[in-house]
Amino acid sequence: MKIYLAPMEGVLDHSLRDILTRISGIDVCVTEFIRVTDQLLPESVFQRLAPELSRGSRTPTGTPVLVQLLGNDPVAMGENAVRAVEMGAPGIDLNFGCPAKTVNKSRGGAILLKDPEEVHDITLGVSRALSSRVPLSAKMRLGFQDKSLAIENAQALEAAGAVRLTVHARTKVEGYKPPAHWEWIARIRESVSIPVIANGDIWTVDDYHRCRAVSGCNDVMIGRGLIANPFLANAIQTGQGQLDALSTWDRTLELIRLYHEMVAARLEAKHVNGRTKQWLRMMQRHYPQAEKLFHSVRAERDPERFAELLREWSVTGD
Ligand SMILES: Cc1cc2nc3c(=O)[nH]c(=O)nc-3n(C[C@H](O)[C@H](O)[C@H](O)COP(=O)(O)O)c2cc1C
Repeated sequence: MKIYLAPMEGVLDHSLRDILTRISGIDVCVTEFIRVTDQLLPESVFQRLAPELSRGSRTPTGTPVLVQLLGNDPVAMGENAVRAVEMGAPGIDLNFGCPAKTVNKSRGGAILLKDPEEVHDITLGVSRALSSRVPLSAKMRLGFQDKSLAIENAQALEAAGAVRLTVHARTKVEGYKPPAHWEWIARIRESVSIPVIANGDIWTVDDYHRCRAVSGCNDVMIGRGLIANPFLANAIQTGQGQLDALSTWDRTLELIRLYHEMVAARLEAKHVNGRTKQWLRMMQRHYPQAEKLFHSVRAERDPERFAELLREWSVTGD
């Protein structure tokens, strides 16, 4: 059984991957998508979004990091996949799920699910270019407007050479609105012979067990649930059950402080606090303490002063 950390553009950068993989439980990470048009991207683009490439494509604690590509040009996608592999990527993942308007307008992400043949051709372009040097995987939603092509798309991905498939159990139109349709993952799993990874709305240990039971999948991918509760994968893997927010908040607070320092060291000052605030906002679903902390730092503009506020903040929030 494996737990994948979901790719999340603008949220799950290498600093947050580093932080979250310090707690054991996550087996594999996937980078935010790297957008490919019709050209071979310079190495600097890969290094910026996947700096782990220069360290054997692993996080500092040794968790492998796969590189995700998004685009529709089979040749350019293949060339960029090869470049990522030459730089050290242990696997390539293709994005067929992004719902962003700007991305879909240029025929990238979820819009491609309207045309299984195109999904097939893009994937084939990459799998031929890679010629089995590393595993090629794909991540899809259930469709764009509706779910009528879900199985055809999954089969197209398998036929074109994907050896693993992650299914985020919603259509593009469903956005992130609950529920995730895990029963659809089961239908897809039954219609392909490659392993399927279940994704969508695993927020608790209980969700994890229900998702596995409904989807029939061994492996899962978790995004927002791990951002809200960095101890979720650990709790699942150790079988200890969900830890309450009180018992882990002191350790989580340490991770927040560390994340802020890491981000401050690499981003322009004006972007730093926003990143930390974004994480605090997403944490509120699991940690009521994060809401209090968020409100006490939200008006702060200076990253240094923000760091001080975080240091001064006591575990009890007094
Ligand atoms: C802010 C944000 C950014 C995302 N970026 C990506 C991405 O770059 N590539 C991708 O395949 N999915 C992306 N996703 C989708 C997630 O990987 C995942 O499929 C989705 O959040 C459902 O899983 P969850 O309920 O565990 O979060 C993103 C989701 C969010 C909320």
